[in-house]
Amino acid sequence: MPDKTRYAIVGTGGRHEMYRDAILGEYAARAELTGLCDNNAGRARLSAGRAAELTGVTPPVYADTDFDRMIADTRPDTVIVTSRDSTHDRYIRRAMELGCNVITEKPMTTDAEKCRRVLETQRATGRSLRITFNYRYSPPRTQIKDLLQSGIIGEVLSVDFHWMLDIHHGADYFRRWHRNRENSGSLLVHKATHHFDLVNWWLGTVPQSVYATGRRAFYRPETAGRYGLDKRAERCHGCPEAARCPFFLDMAANPCLKALYLDQEEYDGYHRDQCVFSDRIDIKDSVALTVDYQNGARMSYSLNAFMPWEGYCIVFNGSKGRLEHKTEETVYVNGDGSVPGAVKPEGTWIRVYPHFAAAYEIPVWEAVGGHGGGDDLLLRDLFNPDAAPDPWMRRADHRGGAWSILTGIAANVSLREQRRVTADELVPGLEMPDYPPMPAATDPLPLR
Ligand SMILES: NC(=O)c1ccc[n+]([C@@H]2O[C@H](COP(=O)([O-])OP(=O)(O)OC[C@H]3O[C@@H](n4cnc5c(N)ncnc54)[C@H](O)[C@@H]3O)[C@@H](O)[C@H]2O)c1
Repeated sequence: MPDKTRYAIVGTGGRHEMYRDAILGEYAARAELTGLCDNNAGRARLSAGRAAELTGVTPPVYADTDFDRMIADTRPDTVIVTSRDSTHDRYIRRAMELGCNVITEKPMTTDAEKCRRVLETQRATGRSLRITFNYRYSPPRTQIKDLLQSGIIGEVLSVDFHWMLDIHHGADYFRRWHRNRENSGSLLVHKATHHFDLVNWWLGTVPQSVYATGRRAFYRPETAGRYGLDKRAERCHGCPEAARCPFFLDMAANPCLKALYLDQEEYDGYHRDQCVFSDRIDIKDSVALTVDYQNGARMSYSLNAFMPWEGYCIVFNGSKGRLEHKTEETVYVNGDGSVPGAVKPEGTWIRVYPHFAAAYEIPVWEAVGGHGGGDDLLLRDLFNPDAAPDPWMRRADHRGGAWSILTGIAANVSLREQRRVTADELVPGLEMPDYPPMPAATDPLPLR
């Protein structure tokens, strides 16, 4: 029987459930839940109650101000951070200072100063910090890594990457805490950390400089006016336009959302259903970036959050050809019990256009479960690590976490100052993550 690793979780909202249930369920032989911490006492108690339903044991619950006491009382080996993005740095650093390893949800943190401090604490304490990039584990995305690594199109010289968030999932970012940069770092950090991490890892490189343009084009009071939603309130619950508004979110009618958020409002006053057209929103919904990478590649990237379908198109232009990849994801509202990001098999394809030869499609690796099949494989790797080496090196540490947010943080500075921003001016001297070797610019090229 292996020794059990002891885990405490900070942040008991929608996302933590996956980790809690894995520790208490499938990985119970290897893992133990020591405590739960949140600034919302109601949500923390709700989670403890669910844990008791699963195991018969109620884990202790701590307020955010009692985080140190939780560590002292319950002595976890590892702290799992699933709180609001802007609070990650505080818990990551304190957990490491108190002798724990850390697993954190993305984004590692939300701005350059916090990023520097997290890296300093990691260096000073020598503790391990793991960032859970579930997208790397989703089979079609792992397959893209495998193909690029194999040299199928030679070395990648440029990338066109366009991410679509639809009017269901995309709109949800404008209802929740994510709508303010101080909480999430904007969609360029909160959401695009996934996208920029994938590109760093797929290409085996890191960003050098970023130029960004963008605006809030759709989720604005003017759009509500154009729909004729003139009597809209600041939140959906009780809104006079509820019956007419296509963006109305009925938390009272959804048992999961009601239990997790509506019933817990008395503890922190947080409304999960704020109006998507509010002028209190300060993040952008339409952005375009050019990113130059240390290996010489250049990427054109866009993110639009008001699209009729959700997913992405990416094209890699290489020295031996071109690889096109498209994924349509299903629609979901986070926290309502549906499967997030499940991939419709017919909506994902990979096509290769070699130089001097006919184009062909490649069968896509099958994906089952949340986030394109990535969540289950990530959990297996976290809680029951396979001894076999991972040929794609999907585990991400503090370096991968930092590089993944630097593109978005640089883009935020670029939007503000209207100039190209380098990663090095934000976090000087950051080391490269460990990536598998990639095709080199000096490799011979076949003529046929
Ligand atoms: N990898 C993925 O695909 C994925 C998916 C969803 C969420 N996430 C990440 O997981 C994290 C949680 O997101 P969520 O969807 O569960 O949000 P959520 O709003 O449901 O939960 C956030 C929790 O943090 C708590 N919190 C807020 N401030 C706190 C503080 N100062 N101290 C302690 N707790 C605090 C809130 O009360 C809430 O319980 C975020 O960082 C998000 O980016 C990742």
